[in-house]
Amino acid sequence: MSDVGYALQVRGLSKRFGDFLAVKNVSLDIRAAGIHGIIGPNGAGKTTVFNILTKFLAPTTGTIWFHGQDITRLTPVEIARRGIVRSFQISAVFPNLTVLQNLEVALQRQAGLASQFWRSRKILAQLNDRAFDLLRSVGLGEFWNVKAKSLPYGRKRTLEIATTLALEPKLLLLDEPMAGMGHEDIASVSSLIRSLADRYAIIMIEHNLSVVSDICDRISVLSRGEVIAEGPYSEVSRNSAVRDAYIGGADG
Ligand SMILES: Nc1ncnc2c1ncn2[C@@H]1O[C@H](COP(=O)(O)OP(=O)(O)OP(=O)(O)O)[C@@H](O)[C@H]1O
Ligand SMILES: [Mg+2]
Repeated sequence: MSDVGYALQVRGLSKRFGDFLAVKNVSLDIRAAGIHGIIGPNGAGKTTVFNILTKFLAPTTGTIWFHGQDITRLTPVEIARRGIVRSFQISAVFPNLTVLQNLEVALQRQAGLASQFWRSRKILAQLNDRAFDLLRSVGLGEFWNVKAKSLPYGRKRTLEIATTLALEPKLLLLDEPMAGMGHEDIASVSSLIRSLADRYAIIMIEHNLSVVSDICDRISVLSRGEVIAEGPYSEVSRNSAVRDAYIGGADG
């Protein structure tokens, strides 16, 4: 399967844990740019789908194509190398390093320089420029010299996203990026994520439906492991099966 314009295509994906089928025959078509939301009640299988896409878990059945290539059997490292990156998992923020140092560590790791005991000044200067560019692009420029642990919560999340971008992703997987945030942080992190959508394909699991309706181009609704609706939020939210799934679910 290699439809132009799609970053990721998934067909017939399922995951069994013992007797329990957590993901059932899931299909997804994720465009090369834009935000695809995944919503659904607690326990619907959303995170399990991310775990399969990053190969943290092997699927029981199904096929995954990334830009037309079958990646179903690749290892997690190979998946990450192709540019499928999950935020808040691979990227760790070091609390006692400054914002800029965190970015430099992420960039060094991406460049494979971490284990090199001598480094040329030129390479380090380039890393420093790139780190500043990335920081400015996410609105953290003025915080470059602040220790990560001293950042307010929303900006810490922003730093996590920036260190993820240092890995040069093509597809970003965000699992509840707004979890635990107040209104102001939600507004700034959602506009940041929206601004990334021109350059990256983004899949975002999110419970906050007003955020989903604001920034997602399309959504898939998961319920009991199955995709029960797919399309723009405005259409999907009118679907009666979707309404029923939410009434049956714990929240959403
Ligand atoms: N490693 C595992 N072993 C056994 N069962 C699992 C495992 N991982 C997930 N499950 C089960 O699979 C189901 C789906 O879990 P998952 O975490 O994917 O849901 P979710 O949609 O992300 O929910 P939430 O909105 O609460 O994060 C749940 O019933 C969960 O208990
Ligand atoms: Mg989850």
